[in-house]
Amino acid sequence: MDLNTIRRQFPALMQSLNGQAPIFLDGPGGSQVPQSVLSAMSAYLGYFNANLGGAFFSSHKTVELMNGARQAVADLLNAPSKEQIVFGANMTSLTFSFSRAISRNWQAGDEVIVTNADHYSNVSSWRQAAEDKGVKVQAVRINEADCTLDLEHYASLLSTKTKLVAVTYASNTTGSINDIKRIVEMAHQVGALVYVDAVHYAPHELIDVQALDCDFLACSAYKFFGPHVGIVYGKKAHLEGFTPYKVEPAKDVIPGRWETGTQSFEGLAGVIAAIEYIASLSDLPKTATRRERLSDAFAKTKAHEMALSEYVLKRIAEFPEITLYGIADQMRLAERTPTFALTFAGIEPRKVSEFLGEHHICVWDGNFYAQGLCEQLGVIDKGGVVRIGCMHYNTIDELSTLFDRIEQFLAR
Ligand SMILES: Cc1ncc(COP(=O)(O)O)c(C=O)c1O
Repeated sequence: MDLNTIRRQFPALMQSLNGQAPIFLDGPGGSQVPQSVLSAMSAYLGYFNANLGGAFFSSHKTVELMNGARQAVADLLNAPSKEQIVFGANMTSLTFSFSRAISRNWQAGDEVIVTNADHYSNVSSWRQAAEDKGVKVQAVRINEADCTLDLEHYASLLSTKTKLVAVTYASNTTGSINDIKRIVEMAHQVGALVYVDAVHYAPHELIDVQALDCDFLACSAYKFFGPHVGIVYGKKAHLEGFTPYKVEPAKDVIPGRWETGTQSFEGLAGVIAAIEYIASLSDLPKTATRRERLSDAFAKTKAHEMALSEYVLKRIAEFPEITLYGIADQMRLAERTPTFALTFAGIEPRKVSEFLGEHHICVWDGNFYAQGLCEQLGVIDKGGVVRIGCMHYNTIDELSTLFDRIEQFLAR
């Protein structure tokens, strides 16, 4: 990958703060955005801002845009049709609305499984829906050694009473990737549905909802170089079969029946541009399909991200004061995203992120709503962890500067 060409497309990466380029290692909280996304959003608002269903050019353009956005996301996720792509404000709002609809027929005695690896968007939504119905909720533990899900524990919780399993594709805190295909197979064996949170995974690897056979999968465009738009894929039978809470006169056809109010059309213009941006990282000729180009692009970004992970793990090992939570094995780089959860002996995470922030190195501290994970790791009352989150636009040079600053911080 030609990182210079890539980085030049991101205004945020080209800016200078007191003569210094900021280093963005906050990707899991929200990625930076290429100029093409900014231009697409501003062009929509500048020339075509309208609503759906009017008899004039800008409304026609808006309908076209919405269809284009659904098709772009269908290509990104390998959904069988664009009618299986639902948009909303963000992943959390969509997941609350899906949990309301899916839980309508739950009864006392039914069970739901959530996990300790998940962001609480994919926990509280199901827990609260379950509470309303007197349904039992159980949480799968993580293996503390590498922060992957404990699949033996998961198997022990599954039964014919299980209605739904809510699980994250990858931890937004430690970067550990879960074996979703296997988790889905196991759930389906007992007749349970699976709702996958792919928010953290989506910017790092190609998703294939058909290969996973998941029932629902949610993601959020602001984590994959786009604007703030939430996305849910659902199997057609489910999108048609479950009944969402909706405004009565609104048309009752998929996918629109799952979408409330007016969508952020400028956001959808940005979603198309973000997916096109990822596809543009491929070397395949323009004659290749968008899905083929996305697949090729993700193979390239994954290879680069694995090199970043290799470097970070090597450098972390030099600091006895640092504890890493998650996969540390250099032979298992493919099983993680380049997201690293760290604690520093005797030092609050906030102190580390503040020091780095003073040097325009953006890293997060806290629990990132991964409450179950931080509780199980025993860091919840200690300010959580410091999270270093790399994206494909980050460089080894940036990471080297990060570790220079960490060394300086620890020397104080
Ligand atoms: C793994 C994960 N799931 C869900 C969410 C919530 O997404 P949204 O902000 O779109 O509601 C986040 C946000 O940080 C996340 O990291």
